[in-house]
Amino acid sequence: MLTKIKNIFIVLLLVLIISQFLRPEKNEASYDSIANFEDLAEVTPEVKTILQNNCYDCHSNITRYPLHMEVSPVSHYMAYHIKEGKEHFNVSNWESYSVQQKDHKLDKFIKELEEKEMPLKPYTWINGELSRADADKLIAWAKATRIKIRQPKDSLPVQQIDTVAVDSTMISMAQ
Ligand code: HEC
Repeated sequence: MLTKIKNIFIVLLLVLIISQFLRPEKNEASYDSIANFEDLAEVTPEVKTILQNNCYDCHSNITRYPLHMEVSPVSHYMAYHIKEGKEHFNVSNWESYSVQQKDHKLDKFIKELEEKEMPLKPYTWINGELSRADADKLIAWAKATRIKIRQPKDSLPVQQIDTVAVDSTMISMAQ
């Protein structure tokens, strides 16, 4: 019995060692696409820091790679979730989303944070939790941005802007 456990342990150890050599492709591009998003979506310096520390790793074309992210199985876990996270929401593609898509992403963004679904759980064990205060700052920014997106500065008369603002509150209340 004891030798059996020992053998299983040795096999697992070998798998772990070998997997260190199977390095997943890294998610690394220039910061330009994120800077573009931050500019277009009027991301404040405070919100930018929170996004950088908690969200961009899986929702942009740039992931930070501290040493512990490079060790398998963490590296493989991350590569899988980065791919999935970017498919759902990628700030690096912000410019290519239609107004409707942007609004939908921000709606999801608010919901994920309110329901404490994001950042993903195992990631926070390594990276640290997102504080409630910081989550609230992200939510406040997303709500304000949704309203701005729905009313392009130059096209709507004041009267209509009021209606749009009321509509968005009613929609979020109804949901
Ligand atoms: C470890 C990777 C990871 C991190 C970090 C992360 N996410 Fe995600 N996110 C995902 C994955 C994977 C999905 C898709 C599956 C799901 O919804 O659970 C997702 C889905 C989303 C969606 C849903 C998009 C849609 O259209 O359905 C939003 C919005 C989102 N994340 C926002 C955030 C925010 C805001 C943060 C930071 C506070 C964050 N995420 C941090 C991996 C991550």
